[in-house]
Amino acid sequence: MPHTYIERIGSHVGEQVTIKGWLHNRRSSGKIHFLVVRDGTGFIQVVMGKSDVGEEVFRRADHLGQETSLIVTGIVRADARAPGGYELTASNLDVVGVAHDYPITPKEHGVDYLMDRRHLWIRAERQAAILRVRHEVINAVRDFFNADGFILADTPIFTPAACEGTTTLFPVPYFEDTTAYLTQSGQLYNEANAMALGKVYCFGPTFRAEKSKTRRHLTEFWMVEPEMAYADLGDVILLAERLVSAVVARVLDRRATELKVLERDTSKLDHVHPPFPRLHYDEAAKILIEKGRPFEVGGDLGGTDETVLSEQFDRPVCVTHYPAAVKAFYMKPDPEQTDRALCVDVLAPEGYGEIIGGGQRLDDYELLVRRINEHNLPPEAFEWYLDLRRYGTVPHGGFGMGIERAVAWICGLEHVRETIPYPRMLYRLYP
Ligand code: 4AD
Ligand code: MG
Repeated sequence: MPHTYIERIGSHVGEQVTIKGWLHNRRSSGKIHFLVVRDGTGFIQVVMGKSDVGEEVFRRADHLGQETSLIVTGIVRADARAPGGYELTASNLDVVGVAHDYPITPKEHGVDYLMDRRHLWIRAERQAAILRVRHEVINAVRDFFNADGFILADTPIFTPAACEGTTTLFPVPYFEDTTAYLTQSGQLYNEANAMALGKVYCFGPTFRAEKSKTRRHLTEFWMVEPEMAYADLGDVILLAERLVSAVVARVLDRRATELKVLERDTSKLDHVHPPFPRLHYDEAAKILIEKGRPFEVGGDLGGTDETVLSEQFDRPVCVTHYPAAVKAFYMKPDPEQTDRALCVDVLAPEGYGEIIGGGQRLDDYELLVRRINEHNLPPEAFEWYLDLRRYGTVPHGGFGMGIERAVAWICGLEHVRETIPYPRMLYRLYP
């Protein structure tokens, strides 16, 4: 009997099929078992009548525990009242692996309890839906850049120095007497790659030893980072809004089922089209003060500031020209206002805050040397990076988009910890 995935069951109405999955739920009424079975692609109710399968098979299903793995054969019936629109009338059932006392039941569990059992929790309908959206987001990102002529060029994970500030580095012993650091961002290598290939992107895990326990921070997260030679801040913003719009449109188009499971109000995502509003840092500061935030002009935006700002708009907002002092060493200063950086943070609406950070890079050799010193970075580790300014420097720029933050926003989640199979956080390294 050919094996059918539940997501394809609709093309087998009236036929006999076999599904291989796990028992999600069971109720019985004397002569009929109702078994809700999941196989990773969907859920289906299996109706097993004693008269159809016989005494022996019927008894097999009498005491099955949640998450027992099983193989069921039966006829597919269309039923508008059934959750997925179909039911299976069983003719046989085989138990593959029994499960007793599955620790995650339909009752409410605390989040720490669930996080300790993350390897099982991902079987839950909501969690599986989020991971499918994540998959779609990642593929939408790849397809977007590939179709746009960007070359995927991988950047290293072991690196000799900081990219995003020395306070959030994870050191790793690297043979006898060297310390490597897990990458915070592929950007510096991306810049070199852009000089070689024009338009590039890297896409991989990045690491920040961030001691912040917020709903937006992981210590290991995935970031996609495009970089373009011969590009200015305006080009970077145009690319960012096109990318975000393309990703949202793709998820709306292909993951409607998952968004429904997540009870996402998708009307909030319908507005996500270019152009996104642009907000100069000074205007952002004005709004925050008007809203009564205790905001110090000249400082960075905190999480709550971002939330307040992003709530003002129905689509992502691009905040530009932050004070150079609060941004990374590699940012190009605005020639019109040299204490400002030619940078952009894209804040997602509904209070989600920053999902993208980027801008135009410092392309001037002398100034870059000065910045490396001002930031107390080890100059010898940046010799290769300075070469990019020694040999044919050009205006260039790019950005990084955090996948987990983007997924949390698109799914409408409280916390980024549910957007990655195994989140790594300040107090979470298990399982
Ligand atoms: O703003 P960030 O730090 O920018 C960079 O790393 C640049 N070098 C990127 C570039 O220009 N190529 O990080 C970029 C994005 C943030 O907007 C956020 O979405 C995500 O990465 N991010 C995090 N996501 C989860 N947990 C954390 N601790 C994150 N830190 C940054
Ligand atoms: Mg940032």
